[in-house]
Amino acid sequence: MTEIAPSILAADFANLQRDVEMLNASSAGYIHVDIMDGMFVPNISFGLPVCEAIYKHAKKPLDVHLMIEQPDRYLAEFRHAGASVITVHYEACPHLHRTVQHIKELGAMAGVAVNPHTPVEVLSEILGDVDLILIMSVNPGFGGQTFIENTYKKIARLDQMRKEGNHKFVIEVDGGVNTSNAPLLTSSGADVLVAGSFVFRSSNPLQTIDDLKNAGKL
Ligand code: DX5
Ligand code: ZN
Repeated sequence: MTEIAPSILAADFANLQRDVEMLNASSAGYIHVDIMDGMFVPNISFGLPVCEAIYKHAKKPLDVHLMIEQPDRYLAEFRHAGASVITVHYEACPHLHRTVQHIKELGAMAGVAVNPHTPVEVLSEILGDVDLILIMSVNPGFGGQTFIENTYKKIARLDQMRKEGNHKFVIEVDGGVNTSNAPLLTSSGADVLVAGSFVFRSSNPLQTIDDLKNAGKL
């Protein structure tokens, strides 16, 4: 079943509680929390205190996407700040196996994200250890960017690797997701669709989350 993970990056930060409560009442499976450090990506979003504030009101699991350098320094803190899923970037982790084990020891689901230019084949030796692979369909750093079409075949290749290895990890896609690309994303193998601006800039976010979920089933 397709799950939707609305990205809180596109919420109204002055009304965060209201927007988290809206997501609690929605058909979303997760709340996607984008952490940016101004180093790994050219933008700064927010950090631990905001993650804790979201967690305080959230009734859905927090899916924390760390777009930061040396994420090992903050894994325990984000787990304590409420993360159920912690995703680190392949490009930021020279000792990815150790990082993934650390996330699992903390009791969270371990995710690994890949930038648009990174082939999924580099993940072959870690696929048996991870709970989730996040395929970036835009260059990380900003919401509201245009979806990169090459993503479909990357997802399809990863899905093939998953089948061949009899792996159980979830495939998540993030960036420029909408109801037009959702059907092909899910038929290519994506299980979780992250959507920021498409949800929060719509006139009826609750309906838009339902629409995405239904589009993902087509
Ligand atoms: C991009 C973030 C995304 C972003 C998605 O760096 O990782 O999660 O919030 O936003 P949209 O759906 O607007 O592309
Ligand atoms: Zn994200």
